[in-house]
Amino acid sequence: MFLFFCFAKSAIYYIIRHQILSPPSEENMSDNALYTDLSGYYDLMCADINYQAQSNSAHRLHQIFGNGGKQHLDLACGTGPHISYLSQEGYQSSGLDINQPMLDIAQQRCPNAYFELGNMCAFDAAEPYDLITCFLYSVHYSGDIKNLTSCIQSVHKALNTGGVFCFNSVDKNHIDNTLSAKHSVMHDNSEFSFGSSWYYCGEGEKQTLKLSIEKTSAQHTQLWTDEHPMVALSFNELQALLMPYFDVHVFEHEHDKIIPWEKLSGNAIFLCVKK
Ligand SMILES: C[S@@+](CC[C@H](N)C(=O)[O-])C[C@H]1O[C@@H](n2cnc3c(N)ncnc32)[C@H](O)[C@@H]1O
Repeated sequence: MFLFFCFAKSAIYYIIRHQILSPPSEENMSDNALYTDLSGYYDLMCADINYQAQSNSAHRLHQIFGNGGKQHLDLACGTGPHISYLSQEGYQSSGLDINQPMLDIAQQRCPNAYFELGNMCAFDAAEPYDLITCFLYSVHYSGDIKNLTSCIQSVHKALNTGGVFCFNSVDKNHIDNTLSAKHSVMHDNSEFSFGSSWYYCGEGEKQTLKLSIEKTSAQHTQLWTDEHPMVALSFNELQALLMPYFDVHVFEHEHDKIIPWEKLSGNAIFLCVKK
Protein backbone atom coordinates (compact mmCIF):
# COMPACT_ATOMS: atom_id res chain seq x y z
CA MET A 1 0.00 0.00 0.00
CA PHE A 2 1.22 3.46 -0.83
CA LEU A 3 1.71 5.26 2.47
CA PHE A 4 0.83 8.73 1.21
CA PHE A 5 2.36 11.19 3.71
CA CYS A 6 2.85 8.51 6.30
CA PHE A 7 6.52 8.63 7.12
CA ALA A 8 7.06 8.21 10.78
CA LYS A 9 10.07 6.09 11.75
CA SER A 10 7.80 3.17 12.53
CA ALA A 11 6.17 3.02 9.10
CA ILE A 12 8.56 2.60 6.22
CA TYR A 13 7.58 1.78 2.66
CA TYR A 14 10.14 2.86 0.20
CA ILE A 15 10.11 2.23 -3.50
CA ILE A 16 12.40 4.07 -5.86
CA ARG A 17 12.09 3.85 -9.60
CA HIS A 18 14.66 5.44 -11.85
CA GLN A 19 13.86 6.65 -15.32
CA ILE A 20 16.61 7.37 -17.80
CA LEU A 21 14.93 9.60 -20.31
CA SER A 22 15.25 13.20 -21.28
CA PRO A 23 15.72 15.36 -18.16
CA PRO A 24 12.34 16.34 -16.74
CA SER A 25 11.16 19.87 -17.31
CA GLU A 26 10.24 21.24 -13.90
CA GLU A 27 7.05 23.25 -13.65
CA ASN A 28 6.77 26.11 -11.21
CA MET A 29 3.61 25.72 -9.23
CA SER A 30 1.97 27.37 -6.28
CA ASP A 31 2.42 25.44 -3.04
CA ASN A 32 -0.92 23.71 -3.43
CA ALA A 33 -1.06 23.04 -7.17
CA LEU A 34 -2.01 19.44 -6.45
CA TYR A 35 -5.35 20.69 -5.12
CA THR A 36 -5.93 23.24 -7.89
CA ASP A 37 -4.33 22.97 -11.34
CA LEU A 38 -3.32 19.34 -10.81
CA SER A 39 -6.46 18.20 -8.97
CA GLY A 40 -7.26 15.90 -11.90
CA TYR A 41 -4.24 13.80 -10.84
CA TYR A 42 -5.15 13.63 -7.14
CA ASP A 43 -7.11 10.37 -7.30
CA LEU A 44 -4.31 8.75 -9.30
CA MET A 45 -1.88 9.80 -6.59
CA CYS A 46 -4.10 8.22 -3.96
CA ALA A 47 -4.94 5.11 -5.97
CA ASP A 48 -3.33 2.80 -3.39
CA ILE A 49 -5.01 4.27 -0.33
CA ASN A 50 -7.63 2.02 1.21
CA TYR A 51 -10.37 4.61 1.66
CA GLN A 52 -12.95 1.93 2.29
CA ALA A 53 -11.00 0.61 5.29
CA GLN A 54 -10.53 4.15 6.66
CA SER A 55 -14.23 4.90 6.27
CA ASN A 56 -15.24 1.59 7.87
CA SER A 57 -12.90 2.34 10.75
CA ALA A 58 -14.51 5.76 11.36
CA HIS A 59 -17.97 4.17 11.14
CA ARG A 60 -17.06 1.43 13.65
CA LEU A 61 -15.49 3.90 16.09
CA HIS A 62 -18.57 6.10 15.81
CA GLN A 63 -20.81 3.09 16.49
CA ILE A 64 -18.82 2.24 19.63
CA PHE A 65 -18.07 5.70 21.04
CA GLY A 66 -20.55 8.03 19.33
CA ASN A 67 -24.24 8.85 19.56
CA GLY A 68 -25.45 6.68 16.67
CA GLY A 69 -26.56 9.71 14.62
CA LYS A 70 -26.02 9.83 10.88
CA GLN A 71 -25.20 13.47 10.15
CA HIS A 72 -21.63 13.44 8.87
CA LEU A 73 -19.17 16.14 7.83
CA ASP A 74 -15.80 15.41 6.20
CA LEU A 75 -13.33 18.25 6.73
CA ALA A 76 -10.72 18.83 4.00
CA CYS A 77 -12.78 16.30 2.06
CA GLY A 78 -10.72 16.55 -1.13
CA THR A 79 -12.32 14.58 -3.95
CA GLY A 80 -14.80 12.96 -1.56
CA PRO A 81 -13.75 9.30 -1.21
CA HIS A 82 -14.70 9.02 2.48
CA ILE A 83 -18.06 10.64 1.77
CA SER A 84 -18.71 8.12 -0.94
CA TYR A 85 -18.10 5.18 1.42
CA LEU A 86 -19.82 6.65 4.48
CA SER A 87 -22.91 7.50 2.41
CA GLN A 88 -23.16 3.78 1.66
CA GLU A 89 -23.33 3.19 5.43
CA GLY A 90 -26.42 5.41 5.60
CA TYR A 91 -24.79 8.71 6.58
CA GLN A 92 -26.09 12.02 5.28
CA SER A 93 -22.67 13.35 4.38
CA SER A 94 -21.36 16.81 3.66
CA GLY A 95 -17.87 17.90 2.70
CA LEU A 96 -15.88 21.05 3.31
CA ASP A 97 -12.69 21.95 1.49
CA ILE A 98 -10.75 25.11 0.78
CA ASN A 99 -10.07 24.31 -2.90
CA GLN A 100 -12.99 24.42 -5.33
CA PRO A 101 -11.37 22.12 -7.96
CA MET A 102 -11.28 19.33 -5.35
CA LEU A 103 -14.94 19.96 -4.48
CA ASP A 104 -15.93 19.85 -8.16
CA ILE A 105 -14.52 16.33 -8.43
CA ALA A 106 -16.13 15.36 -5.11
CA GLN A 107 -19.54 16.57 -6.28
CA GLN A 108 -19.27 14.44 -9.42
CA ARG A 109 -18.32 11.42 -7.33
CA CYS A 110 -21.08 12.00 -4.76
CA PRO A 111 -23.99 13.78 -6.49
CA ASN A 112 -26.27 13.43 -3.45
CA ALA A 113 -23.85 14.94 -0.92
CA TYR A 114 -23.61 18.62 -0.05
CA PHE A 115 -20.21 20.29 -0.52
CA GLU A 116 -19.08 23.65 0.70
CA LEU A 117 -16.03 25.79 0.01
CA GLY A 118 -14.54 26.86 3.32
CA ASN A 119 -11.73 26.87 5.82
CA MET A 120 -11.79 24.10 8.43
CA CYS A 121 -10.17 26.52 10.90
CA ALA A 122 -13.20 28.80 10.87
CA PHE A 123 -16.47 27.20 9.85
CA ASP A 124 -20.00 27.34 11.21
CA ALA A 125 -22.43 24.48 10.79
CA ALA A 126 -26.04 25.31 9.90
CA GLU A 127 -27.11 21.95 11.43
CA PRO A 128 -25.14 19.95 14.00
CA TYR A 129 -23.24 16.82 13.03
CA ASP A 130 -22.86 13.45 14.76
CA LEU A 131 -19.60 12.46 13.10
CA ILE A 132 -16.87 14.74 11.79
CA THR A 133 -13.93 13.13 10.00
CA CYS A 134 -10.68 14.56 8.69
CA PHE A 135 -8.32 12.05 7.08
CA LEU A 136 -4.97 11.85 5.36
CA TYR A 137 -3.36 14.00 8.05
CA SER A 138 -5.37 16.96 6.81
CA VAL A 139 -5.79 18.58 10.25
CA HIS A 140 -2.11 19.48 9.84
CA TYR A 141 -3.17 21.85 7.05
CA SER A 142 -4.43 24.21 9.73
CA GLY A 143 -0.83 25.45 9.55
CA ASP A 144 -0.09 26.51 13.11
CA ILE A 145 -1.23 25.81 16.66
CA LYS A 146 -3.46 28.90 16.79
CA ASN A 147 -5.40 27.82 13.70
CA LEU A 148 -5.48 24.19 14.82
CA THR A 149 -7.06 25.34 18.09
CA SER A 150 -9.69 27.28 16.08
CA CYS A 151 -10.32 24.16 14.02
CA ILE A 152 -10.84 22.10 17.17
CA GLN A 153 -13.20 24.75 18.58
CA SER A 154 -15.17 24.90 15.31
CA VAL A 155 -15.50 21.10 15.29
CA HIS A 156 -16.62 21.04 18.92
CA LYS A 157 -19.26 23.69 18.24
CA ALA A 158 -20.49 21.87 15.12
CA LEU A 159 -21.02 18.51 16.88
CA ASN A 160 -24.20 17.22 18.51
CA THR A 161 -24.06 15.98 22.09
CA GLY A 162 -22.01 12.79 22.16
CA GLY A 163 -20.81 13.40 18.61
CA VAL A 164 -17.31 12.34 17.60
CA PHE A 165 -14.38 13.82 15.73
CA CYS A 166 -12.19 11.20 14.05
CA PHE A 167 -8.90 12.02 12.31
CA ASN A 168 -5.34 10.82 11.87
CA SER A 169 -2.14 12.65 12.76
CA VAL A 170 1.64 12.39 12.68
CA ASP A 171 3.83 13.21 15.69
CA LYS A 172 6.54 15.74 14.78
CA ASN A 173 9.08 13.93 16.95
CA HIS A 174 8.76 10.78 14.84
CA ILE A 175 9.28 12.37 11.45
CA ASP A 176 12.34 10.99 9.71
CA ASN A 177 13.48 13.48 7.08
CA THR A 178 15.40 10.80 5.20
CA LEU A 179 12.27 8.81 4.32
CA SER A 180 10.13 9.27 1.27
CA ALA A 181 7.72 7.17 -0.73
CA LYS A 182 7.17 6.79 -4.43
CA HIS A 183 4.70 4.87 -6.49
CA SER A 184 4.01 4.71 -10.20
CA VAL A 185 0.91 4.09 -12.26
CA MET A 186 0.15 4.01 -15.97
CA HIS A 187 -2.65 6.30 -17.10
CA ASP A 188 -3.63 7.52 -20.59
CA ASN A 189 -0.40 6.16 -22.15
CA SER A 190 1.72 8.06 -19.62
CA GLU A 191 3.61 6.83 -16.61
CA PHE A 192 2.96 8.84 -13.48
CA SER A 193 5.38 8.72 -10.56
CA PHE A 194 4.17 10.24 -7.32
CA GLY A 195 6.48 11.07 -4.42
CA SER A 196 5.85 12.39 -0.93
CA SER A 197 7.86 13.09 2.20
CA TRP A 198 7.55 14.93 5.49
CA TYR A 199 10.19 17.38 6.63
CA TYR A 200 10.57 18.69 10.18
CA CYS A 201 13.58 20.80 11.13
CA GLY A 202 13.52 19.59 14.74
CA GLU A 203 12.08 22.63 16.47
CA GLY A 204 9.01 24.84 16.32
CA GLU A 205 5.46 24.28 15.12
CA LYS A 206 6.00 24.02 11.36
CA GLN A 207 6.61 20.97 9.23
CA THR A 208 6.32 20.61 5.48
CA LEU A 209 4.88 18.02 3.20
CA LYS A 210 6.77 17.71 -0.07
CA LEU A 211 4.94 16.20 -3.02
CA SER A 212 6.08 15.51 -6.54
CA ILE A 213 4.41 14.32 -9.70
CA GLU A 214 6.43 13.12 -12.68
CA LYS A 215 4.61 12.41 -15.92
CA THR A 216 6.42 10.57 -18.71
CA SER A 217 4.82 10.27 -22.13
CA ALA A 218 6.88 8.92 -25.04
CA GLN A 219 10.26 10.64 -24.51
CA HIS A 220 8.97 13.69 -22.66
CA THR A 221 9.00 14.01 -18.87
CA GLN A 222 7.34 16.74 -16.83
CA LEU A 223 7.96 17.22 -13.13
CA TRP A 224 5.81 19.20 -10.72
CA THR A 225 6.77 19.78 -7.12
CA ASP A 226 4.61 21.11 -4.27
CA GLU A 227 5.62 22.08 -0.76
CA HIS A 228 2.88 22.40 1.82
CA PRO A 229 3.42 24.24 5.12
CA MET A 230 1.72 22.33 7.93
CA VAL A 231 1.42 22.46 11.70
CA ALA A 232 3.89 20.31 13.63
CA LEU A 233 3.14 19.04 17.11
CA SER A 234 3.68 16.03 19.33
CA PHE A 235 0.83 13.73 20.30
CA ASN A 236 1.12 14.99 23.89
CA GLU A 237 0.65 18.56 22.64
CA LEU A 238 -2.26 17.51 20.45
CA GLN A 239 -4.00 15.71 23.31
CA ALA A 240 -3.57 18.78 25.51
CA LEU A 241 -5.27 20.93 22.84
CA LEU A 242 -8.18 18.49 22.49
CA MET A 243 -8.82 17.59 26.13
CA PRO A 244 -10.69 20.77 27.18
CA TYR A 245 -13.34 19.93 24.56
CA PHE A 246 -13.32 16.14 24.16
CA ASP A 247 -12.73 12.80 25.81
CA VAL A 248 -9.77 11.73 23.72
CA HIS A 249 -9.00 8.14 22.66
CA VAL A 250 -5.87 7.41 20.65
CA PHE A 251 -5.54 4.26 18.54
CA GLU A 252 -2.82 2.60 16.53
CA HIS A 253 -2.88 3.61 12.89
CA GLU A 254 -4.60 0.38 11.82
CA HIS A 255 -7.85 0.70 9.99
CA ASP A 256 -9.02 -2.88 10.23
CA LYS A 257 -8.44 -3.26 14.00
CA ILE A 258 -9.06 -1.14 17.07
CA ILE A 259 -5.87 -1.17 19.13
CA PRO A 260 -5.09 1.46 21.78
CA TRP A 261 -2.00 3.47 20.82
CA GLU A 262 1.03 1.99 22.52
CA LYS A 263 2.86 5.33 22.60
CA LEU A 264 5.59 4.20 20.23
CA SER A 265 4.25 4.85 16.77
CA GLY A 266 4.34 8.30 15.18
CA ASN A 267 1.05 7.82 13.33
CA ALA A 268 -2.24 7.42 15.14
CA ILE A 269 -6.00 7.69 14.85
CA PHE A 270 -7.61 10.19 17.23
CA LEU A 271 -11.19 9.60 18.31
CA CYS A 272 -12.60 12.54 20.24
CA VAL A 273 -16.01 12.42 21.94
CA LYS A 274 -17.64 15.79 22.56
CA LYS A 275 -17.78 16.65 26.26
C1 LIG B 1 -4.25 15.44 1.53
S1 LIG B 1 -5.72 16.10 0.90
C2 LIG B 1 -6.86 15.05 1.73
C3 LIG B 1 -8.16 14.93 1.02
C4 LIG B 1 -9.07 13.84 1.57
N1 LIG B 1 -9.36 14.04 2.97
C5 LIG B 1 -8.44 12.47 1.36
O1 LIG B 1 -8.32 11.73 2.35
O2 LIG B 1 -8.13 12.13 0.21
C6 LIG B 1 -5.84 17.59 1.82
C7 LIG B 1 -7.06 18.42 1.49
O3 LIG B 1 -7.13 19.48 2.46
C8 LIG B 1 -7.65 20.61 1.81
N2 LIG B 1 -7.32 21.76 2.68
C9 LIG B 1 -6.11 22.31 2.92
N3 LIG B 1 -6.22 23.30 3.80
C10 LIG B 1 -7.52 23.38 4.16
C11 LIG B 1 -8.26 24.22 5.05
N4 LIG B 1 -7.66 25.16 5.78
N5 LIG B 1 -9.60 24.03 5.16
C12 LIG B 1 -10.22 23.07 4.41
N6 LIG B 1 -9.57 22.27 3.55
C13 LIG B 1 -8.25 22.41 3.43
C14 LIG B 1 -6.99 20.59 0.45
O4 LIG B 1 -7.67 21.39 -0.49
C15 LIG B 1 -7.06 19.08 0.13
O5 LIG B 1 -8.22 18.77 -0.57
